[in-house]
Amino acid sequence: MKHIYITRRETFNAAHRLKRDDWTNEENERVFGKCCNQNWHGHNFELFVTVRGIPSKETGFVINLKTLGDILKDGVIEKIDHKNINVDVDFMKDQMSSTENLAIGIWDQIEDEIMKLGGELAKIKLVETENNYCLLYTSPSPRDRTRSRMPSS
Ligand code: NI
Repeated sequence: MKHIYITRRETFNAAHRLKRDDWTNEENERVFGKCCNQNWHGHNFELFVTVRGIPSKETGFVINLKTLGDILKDGVIEKIDHKNINVDVDFMKDQMSSTENLAIGIWDQIEDEIMKLGGELAKIKLVETENNYCLLYTSPSPRDRTRSRMPSS
C-alpha cells in the first residue's frame, strides 16, 4: 500500500496581541516584543494542511482537495480571516494567541471532519511571517496524541 501525503494551502489575515495581564509592561515587551503592541497588529498567515491516506481506486484521490478546502473555509477561514484572534475567534478563547496555539486550535477544528471523509490529518504548517512558522504533526497512536501536541514551554 502506498501512502500519500497531500496538502491544501489556504491564507488568511488576522490581528492579535501577545500580552500577559499578570506581567508588567516591561516583562511583556521583553518577551513578546512587537507582538505585544498595545493597539494590536496583523499577520498574513499561510496555512498548509496535509492529509495522509491511500488513493481511492474510484477517484485516484486521497481526499478531494475541493472538499478539504471547504472544510478549512467553514471550520477556520470564515472564523478568523480579517478578525482579531484574541477577541473574535471562538476556538482561541482564553489562550495566548501564539502561532503554536493557533495551529493546535486549527487542528482541533478540522480533524474530525477530515476523518469523516476517510482521511487522516497528518500535518499542519502555519506560517506567520516569512521567517517564522510552526509545524504540528499527528502522533503514532491516539493515546500519545494529546501529550505530544502540548506546546513545549
Ligand atoms: Ni504578532
